[in-house]
Amino acid sequence: MNPPPIRSDPGTFDPRFVPTLDEARRRIAAVLRPGDLAVDATVGWGRDTVFLAELVGPTGQVVGFEIQDEAIRRARDLLVQRGLQDRVTLKWLGHERLNDALDNRAVIKAAMFNLGYLPGSDHTVTTRAESTLIALEAVWRRLDRSGLVTIVCYPGHPGGMEETHAVASWAADRASSGDAIAWSCAFLNSRRPPPRLVIVAPTPRPNGNASS
Ligand SMILES: C[S@@+](CC[C@H](N)C(=O)[O-])C[C@H]1O[C@@H](n2cnc3c(N)ncnc32)[C@H](O)[C@@H]1O
Repeated sequence: MNPPPIRSDPGTFDPRFVPTLDEARRRIAAVLRPGDLAVDATVGWGRDTVFLAELVGPTGQVVGFEIQDEAIRRARDLLVQRGLQDRVTLKWLGHERLNDALDNRAVIKAAMFNLGYLPGSDHTVTTRAESTLIALEAVWRRLDRSGLVTIVCYPGHPGGMEETHAVASWAADRASSGDAIAWSCAFLNSRRPPPRLVIVAPTPRPNGNASS
């Protein structure tokens, strides 16, 4: 299988955000393997869903969550165009309902959260701190020990700073309890507050055994 290109589509995203989105993809590509289960917590136009679907291959599965029906339709069209629809389940559902949507025994290898609003759509429809934290907790409880979660936060829109702080403090709490390694980075090439990438992964076991 050829690995999918890391570059996010600059035609879809603000070009200033692309380095951060690409960094998230690089981290995901380092752990996600054919046959794995991945979650796209914010499907939008489906670019990240396609990226995940190519990595998990025909034996893997991606479950995607999105609250806007037009976005879901466009994402589905994109998946069909690429012949990836059989390995993806799109849920027209808030990611805070993840526990209702996944089997109790499902083990997630990687999850992507690309927060904020959908470019080219209604900018008042955004992710929110409260529901994002519920979704992160649900993903975390099901995460494989060799997996990880990436969260791209946008502090520059109304509510975005609060959400960014909430995500960073959730990640720091996981890390300070010893459960996780958590880190974050931002490309400082913008006068507006740049997006912040937060990455959280389970702490490796002392014997180096990373399996669940
Ligand atoms: C930055 S966009 C995602 C871009 C997308 N990953 C892509 O590749 O096009 C954020 C998306 O989160 C969606 N969203 C907002 N609240 C949500 C929620 N509670 N659950 C799932 N998606 C949500 C928005 O509708 C929007 O499409």
